[in-house]
Amino acid sequence: MLKVAVLVSGGGTNLQAILDAIDEGRITNAQVDVVISNNPGAYALERAKGHGIEALCISPKDYESRAAFNEAFLAKLDSYQVDLVVLAGFLVVIPEQMIARYRNRIINIHPSLIPSFCGKGFYGLKVHEAALGYGVKVSGATVHFVEADVDAGAIVMQRAGSVEDGDTPESLQARVLKAEHEILPLCVKLLCEGRVAKEGRKVYIR
Ligand code: GAR
Repeated sequence: MLKVAVLVSGGGTNLQAILDAIDEGRITNAQVDVVISNNPGAYALERAKGHGIEALCISPKDYESRAAFNEAFLAKLDSYQVDLVVLAGFLVVIPEQMIARYRNRIINIHPSLIPSFCGKGFYGLKVHEAALGYGVKVSGATVHFVEADVDAGAIVMQRAGSVEDGDTPESLQARVLKAEHEILPLCVKLLCEGRVAKEGRKVYIR
């Protein structure tokens, strides 16, 4: 059974999608061992506890320096010895040491078709405001490996959908979120089954 850590900052609907996929037998060889948040009020932590999963908070605000936080964060994650780390709406930049230690074992879900509307400052509703402001006709969700440059790692999977006349950032967000809930658990499943091969920036599903 592969061990998964899910990192969250907010409501945790993507975490829930992974938990549902496990509960419903769509993911059979992975378990979520720990859910970590930087935000003590994240509802995602309640979802984890409700599932009997260890849920903890570690925030940069509680450390003297970013370096001290990064060290404690890495030590905490290491203590669970997980095989895969999933960023599911986690709004803290992942420390370089963590990326080096878990290279090709950390994925992130982003609510746009990368490389559009991504990178520093593009999170949550801001992504959909930018997409609508630009006038794109399609948007969607991307799962990618995490590298030091924010949202710039190799793409594992994308799901596109139409932008409709009259869409608001909220309505587009809701539609893209549905796509996120489909592709994130699917990527977890494929990774845990060893069916994801990466050659440079190209990722192949076998
Ligand atoms: C999701 O839409 C996710 O793609 C986004 O935050 C939301 C979290 O929702 N992540 C980013 O914008 C990261 N740049 P959730 O807590 O309900 O899963």
